[in-house]
Amino acid sequence: MSVKVSVIYFSGYGHTAKVANAVFEGAKSTGADVSLINVVELNEEGWARLDNSDAIIFGSPTYMGSVAAKLKEFMEVASERWMHRKWVDKIAAGFTNGGGLSGDKLNSLTQLYINAMQHGMIWVGCNQMGPMKMGQEEFNRNELNRLGSFSGLMTQSNNDTADFNPPAGDLETAKGFGQRIANITAQFVKGR
Ligand SMILES: Cc1cc2nc3c(=O)[nH]c(=O)nc-3n(C[C@H](O)[C@H](O)[C@H](O)COP(=O)(O)O)c2cc1C
Repeated sequence: MSVKVSVIYFSGYGHTAKVANAVFEGAKSTGADVSLINVVELNEEGWARLDNSDAIIFGSPTYMGSVAAKLKEFMEVASERWMHRKWVDKIAAGFTNGGGLSGDKLNSLTQLYINAMQHGMIWVGCNQMGPMKMGQEEFNRNELNRLGSFSGLMTQSNNDTADFNPPAGDLETAKGFGQRIANITAQFVKGR
């Protein structure tokens, strides 16, 4: 039986939506039953889907060094799930996309991680090696895990909506991340 994975995300201008879609595609490629939910379209069916998932992957752009308000609002509404321990022992993971190379994105991942920990979920990070090019002129936008983030997935988009934002390497990294979360979830569910 395939594991159920949900990707819940917000995207104000469409960049994080591309990342969410790549995470979704990667998870689906493992044979998992995957839902992609935009937080502004979340309805009763979506909530039920989250409650029935084996894994939930949370995603948000970084706005002012923080997850976006809509994602934070979702986290607060989901405190009703926290109260009833509905998401305990589900696998959790998170991703964020920002305009800056740093852009204080780690704070967004930390917020997502702490939220998952409050629910009693089991956080899985990113296992892809970043490019080993410290000291060289520029990190190639086609490389995997170019931002070198391990606590969760980070991607970077310049602030326009061109097709290469975020770049191909970041979207490949996102696919690999979705695959990893789905595979870990399958191992976890099997061993339970
Ligand atoms: C209100 C606002 C605040 C932002 N703050 C940050 C920030 O703190 N760090 C960062 O890296 N990028 C920041 N950005 C840039 C966005 O993260 C970036 O444009 C991202 O690709 C937007 O994702 P979206 O298209 O899914 O909304 C900010 C953008 C907006 C609109």
